[in-house]
Amino acid sequence: YDDHRGEYYEINRMAAQFFYDAFTKKANRGYSYMEGRGIAPATLKKFGIGYADGEWDSLYRFMVSQGVEVKKLQELGLVSTSKGKCYDRFRNRVMFPIINTSGKVIGFGGRAVSPEDNPKYLNSPESRIFQKKNNLYGLNISRKAAGDEGFLILVEGYMDVIALYQSGVHNVAASLGTALTENQARLIHRYTKEVVLSYDADRAGRAAALRGIEILRKEGSKVKVLHVTDGKDPDEYVKKNGRDAFLELVGNALSYGEYKLESAKLGYDLSSDEGRLDYMKKAVEIIAAMSPLEQEIYKKKMAGDLGVAESAIDRELALRDGRRSPQTSETRRQMRREENAPEAR
Ligand code: CTP
Ligand code: MN
Ligand code: MN
Ligand code: MN
Ligand code: MN
Repeated sequence: YDDHRGEYYEINRMAAQFFYDAFTKKANRGYSYMEGRGIAPATLKKFGIGYADGEWDSLYRFMVSQGVEVKKLQELGLVSTSKGKCYDRFRNRVMFPIINTSGKVIGFGGRAVSPEDNPKYLNSPESRIFQKKNNLYGLNISRKAAGDEGFLILVEGYMDVIALYQSGVHNVAASLGTALTENQARLIHRYTKEVVLSYDADRAGRAAALRGIEILRKEGSKVKVLHVTDGKDPDEYVKKNGRDAFLELVGNALSYGEYKLESAKLGYDLSSDEGRLDYMKKAVEIIAAMSPLEQEIYKKKMAGDLGVAESAIDRELALRDGRRSPQTSETRRQMRREENAPEAR
């Protein structure tokens, strides 16, 4: 059936061209902003970066002059209506076209150039051609390099993708600010079987990495994790330290198992016996969820790390299995019933 997607792609393409022209053809705050962030003209061009000017309705007027229907502009979230008047949704923002792996402009991210403008990022709303959960920013450009390198570096933001790309790290994409979804994991898996998660080094980034691990593992991908050690995200890190330093972080990225164990550790006071015990129980839980071969590796790591015998970990795992097995708990319930039965008293 035909839901006129082609027309909507075409409107977005026209909008991207309009923003690009405004960005490149005359002095504007968007260009100065990106220049100030150290992004070179060739990179800006590669990603089709544009500028939505500060006028209320310049894109709207352009589109109408081209015969584009207002309701389509509204559906794409390019134009909003208030009290019967149409105005541009994106104003005074650097525009990042979001392009799918078929090369279609499906939506936009717009970054405020004034620090006082909120929100910092404004994205296109979901539409018949834009579902955040099904796409990644930059994958149109990076999927080839991801295949060649054997892994994709997954980051949080538009600027992380662009700054890494400019530094020479081309196998990078971003999950569009949302938590990584199963569909995104499946899409990545089409191009490469390994993902290096490189989310921001803050609380939100660490929590998102832990969730990302599970989604990617479920899809069957190999997962490693790193957080930059200087600055708060890959953009800041690579600008200060350069490509080779970032690639060294990638080389030292933790396997997903190490990462889970290390992040669990942060929640415990390992200087007390009680804290150590609680962490060990948590670590056993983490290890119990792994495959048998992985368990072998991480039991050794845990034993070495905490100075306990591997056999003790084995016994904990066995106890845990006992508690979890439905047969055993049924047996236990039966025993309780017998204990409580009147004739047994
Ligand atoms: N994001 C969003 N809406 C927001 C904030 C963030 O959609 N209000 C998404 C954007 O895709 C953004 C990503 O989440 O690129 C990461 O957000 P954050 O780390 O807060 O921003 P940075 O990308 O670091 O932005 P910048 O470096 O431009 O300040
Ligand atoms: Mn405008
Ligand atoms: Mn962040
Ligand atoms: Mn940033
Ligand atoms: Mn960030």
